[in-house]
Amino acid sequence: MTVKTKDLREMKSDIKKTDRAKMAEKLGATLASTYVLYQKTQSVHWNVTGPLFVSVHKLTEGQYEDLAASIDAIAERIRALGAKTPVGLSTYINESVIDDQVEWGDVEAMLKQLSDDNLAVANQMREFVKIADEADDVFTADLLTARIGALEEASWMLSASL
Ligand SMILES: [Fe+2]
Repeated sequence: MTVKTKDLREMKSDIKKTDRAKMAEKLGATLASTYVLYQKTQSVHWNVTGPLFVSVHKLTEGQYEDLAASIDAIAERIRALGAKTPVGLSTYINESVIDDQVEWGDVEAMLKQLSDDNLAVANQMREFVKIADEADDVFTADLLTARIGALEEASWMLSASL
């Protein structure tokens, strides 16, 4: 998903136009990964069975609600930077850093997978925080930093359930 400077809204920002385009692009990748993680977390919420059902069902509910809110925040940050948000589920799947399919196995395998996925998305964001800092895009750096914390916590909670 390339964001071109010519497609950006004109605005008086101290963030350079080329940097706004760059950050919109990185946030687009983040949006894609977060969307896929949201759907994947919901899949586990729906399909989990066994003795851990209640705890995993509740844990994943809180996590996908948090992911849904963050999807909105990320998309709206892209708009605030003057760019258009990427659209289409196929775009998200193609651009996501994690695979959209859950490999069904026992509950342990699913939780491990989801735990790893949370970390993979957090690690992608960590790279982008550095770029946001260089661009002096403090709000994006802040937003992504907060998301890294939430995803790392989610990863821990999923693995601690094992
Ligand atoms: Fe539910």
